[in-house]
Amino acid sequence: MPLKVLIVGAGIAGPALASLLQGADPSRNITVVERFPSLRTAGQQIDLKNQAVPILKKMGLFEAVAAQCVNETGVQIVDAQNQVIAQFGISPSGQRRRTLTSEHEIMRGDMVRVLYEASLKQDAKLKQELGDNKGALTYDFGNSVEGLSQDSEGVDVKFSDGKTGRYDLVVAADGQTSRTRRLAFGEAENNASFKSLGIHAAYYSMPRAQGEGSLAKAYMALGSRMIVTRNSEQPMTQVLLFTMKDTEKLGAIYKESLEKQKQAFAENYEDAGWETSRLLNGMDAAKDFYCHEMGQIKMQQLHKGRVVLVGDSGYCPTPFTGMGVTGCLTGAYLLAGELSRQGEDVDKALQSYNEMMRQPIDECQQMSTRLMGFAFPSSRLGLWSLQTVLWATSKLEPYAYRGRTQDDTFWSPPDYPELKLKPEAGL
Ligand SMILES: Cc1cc2nc3c(=O)[nH]c(=O)nc-3n(C[C@H](O)[C@H](O)[C@H](O)COP(=O)(O)OP(=O)(O)OC[C@H]3O[C@@H](n4cnc5c(N)ncnc54)[C@H](O)[C@@H]3O)c2cc1C
Ligand SMILES: *[C@@H]1O[C@H](CO)[C@@H](O)[C@H](O)[C@H]1NC(C)=O
Ligand SMILES: *[C@@H]1O[C@H](CO)[C@@H](O)[C@H](O)[C@H]1NC(C)=O
Ligand SMILES: *[C@@H]1O[C@H](CO)[C@@H](O)[C@H](O)[C@H]1NC(C)=O
Repeated sequence: MPLKVLIVGAGIAGPALASLLQGADPSRNITVVERFPSLRTAGQQIDLKNQAVPILKKMGLFEAVAAQCVNETGVQIVDAQNQVIAQFGISPSGQRRRTLTSEHEIMRGDMVRVLYEASLKQDAKLKQELGDNKGALTYDFGNSVEGLSQDSEGVDVKFSDGKTGRYDLVVAADGQTSRTRRLAFGEAENNASFKSLGIHAAYYSMPRAQGEGSLAKAYMALGSRMIVTRNSEQPMTQVLLFTMKDTEKLGAIYKESLEKQKQAFAENYEDAGWETSRLLNGMDAAKDFYCHEMGQIKMQQLHKGRVVLVGDSGYCPTPFTGMGVTGCLTGAYLLAGELSRQGEDVDKALQSYNEMMRQPIDECQQMSTRLMGFAFPSSRLGLWSLQTVLWATSKLEPYAYRGRTQDDTFWSPPDYPELKLKPEAGL
């Protein structure tokens, strides 16, 4: 019997996995359930680093993605008077993130759309070729998982619209705050998996101001707050707020309304200086405001019986690493690859997925905690030393990397002939 798979979440990991599973064996029945009433395309610039590029190339999607990449040329660190303290350029995709800007960056919504459309296009093409011999690929928007119960051979799922279904495998691709993870692993393990950075972040966009170009700007305010604006020559400016101030207060806002969340960030930034009042006015009107407590997800094991975690739900690295998409694509590729290689022996495939993911997860989640404390100075002295170091680093950058012409060595994805990928087919 071909596999019957439920994927929870149509973000980045979900549609990528759906495509790979269907391409390898078109007779599989795949349902993607998404809580949002339509494709959720909010979000800002995200990086395509390390394995993200070779995997997209294998999938034949790199060209489609590259065509939509934004063109940020670097970042300026500015002070309250908008004086440039330091400037950084672009990090090549095959290297660790040394600066804010990566070689390939794309708006989250464009990435989600490319992956979603690729899965539907593949579905239509396979239907044409195979007719009734084909399984189904179904996107179910505005619905979510209410309950799970499993035995050794499958999972019974209760949906919020009242329907029920039984699946050989349930994939949690529902992001950092995955509810599927909580349902499958229990509340205690779910709580313990969240490793907070002690930083709260808000993201939104607002109309571009005159004079904003292809460089991002980062401003560090007293009171452990940072503001980043990114434009990349787009009509809208992306605003990112990162704060370590009054974290207890912010911790309590995520169950409140969007208005209350905006208000809490506005209060937090009230006296931050620089262009803050203009940026907070923009937040008021923003339709794509999104905020969260930043943290990594660390699981002992990526599956519980027949429920498996892919993407942020299993190993969120935080946006600071720029490795979220890389983790999603790596996980989708390895899980689809192992399911196909192990001849649909789901349990064996989940075990090897779990083992094979260890190294790429470690690489994605690597970040310097020492640097983090440094990046959020609470005192004037800290702020001064940070600015000095940033200035010195930007001056020394060309020397620091001299002689390092080779890319960093990273884990590299194995080949899976079982996935029947046709890189030349394109989107
Ligand atoms: C609205 C939004 C904005 C973001 N903005 C940024 C950003 O600006 N910069 C950045 O680096 N990262 C951002 N991220 C996170 C980024 O997308 C992830 O780090 C990374 O791409 C991992 O993707 P994922 O597919 O694992 O999860 P996500 O991209 O988080 O996608 C998860 C999907 O699952 C859906 N979902 C959640 N719960 C349920 C449920 N119970 N049932 C069904 N569906 C559910 C969500 O609506 C979403 O579509 C954002 C995420 C979201 C959801
Ligand atoms: C970025 O630059 C490339 C090459 O110049 C171009 O093809 C692409 O359209 C640009 N992207 C955006 C979003 O402007
Ligand atoms: C697969 O999906 C199709 C279309 O939704 C459905 O008719 C069929 O019964 C499903 N097969 C299995 C084994 O669930
Ligand atoms: C998990 O965290 C939530 C929210 O902080 C809390 O209400 C709950 O009691 C915790 N549950 C367990 C089992 O630790």
